[in-house]
Formats: sequence, structure tokens, C-alpha cells
Amino acid sequence: MTRVLVMHGPNLDRLGSREPEIYGHTTLAAITATLDDLARQLGLALEHYQSNAEHELVDRVHQAGDSGVAWLLINPAAFTHTSVALRDALSASALRFVEIHLSNPDSREPFRKTNLFSDLASGRICGFGALGYELGLRAIAGLIETSAANA
Ligand code: DQA
Repeated sequence: MTRVLVMHGPNLDRLGSREPEIYGHTTLAAITATLDDLARQLGLALEHYQSNAEHELVDRVHQAGDSGVAWLLINPAAFTHTSVALRDALSASALRFVEIHLSNPDSREPFRKTNLFSDLASGRICGFGALGYELGLRAIAGLIETSAANA
């Protein structure tokens, strides 16, 4: 079974109560439960990780790369706009990833237009709230299927 790590950056542990008019009312626990159900249907082995600390996210990417995780579904949150360290960790790994955002950063404050991840990502989903995580996982399953068919 292909292993996929779902990774969430800073403040996403507050989903549900954090600016619901922007990020919605769905909690991180609810997103995790929905993704676990979906992963069972798609035949993927999911792992989940959230941290508010840049170095912990970097370490988890290293660990994922070293331990046979193939794909990341990642919402780098505020680190999207600032973290060269997290970008470098992904770039140095063999991991492929889909980037997801609940909001559409491009339609918000100008500083959110800076994105250090998109050019490395296999794809990017933003603006669909919690649904984006499900779309992202389905996209990963589709890409895995396509590469298996082409192998
Ligand atoms: C976010 C968008 C980022 O700009 C912001 O810093 C977040 C969440 C999103 O999911 O919409 O923390 O990644």
C-alpha cells in the first residue's frame, strides 16, 4: 500500500475556531477522520502530522523520506510564504507532494502571493475549504494510478 503523509503547518490545530469566516468550521480532527475513511476506499496508508514549529516539520519530512513514505498532502499554512527550510527539505527528498490551502491565498493580502512551494508541487488545490483535503487525496490516488499504469 502506498504511504501518504498528511502534513499541516502552524495554527491549523486551531481549525474550527480559527477565523471560521475564512477557514470554515471543520476541525482538524474531523478532517483527519474524513481522510482516513477516504484513504480506506482508495487503498492508501495514511499518516497525519501537525506542528506549529518549522524545525519539527522539517524533521518529519526527513523522517518520511527515510522511511518509505511516497507522497505528502501538505498545507504549509503560513510557512507557505516564508519557509525556505521546509521547501529545501521537500526539494532534497524523493517525496512528491500536493499542496493544499483551505482559503485562496491569491485572493487575500499581498504577502500571501509569495509561495515557496508551488513550483515543486505536483499540483495545488486552494479555496475549497476542508473539501480541498479530500480533493487532494483523490488527486494523489489518481497520480499513483497513472504512474503505475505507465511503469
Ligand atoms: C492557509 C493560507 C495561509 O496563507 C495561512 O497562513 C494559513 C492557512 C490556508 O489553508 O488557507 O495558515 O494555508
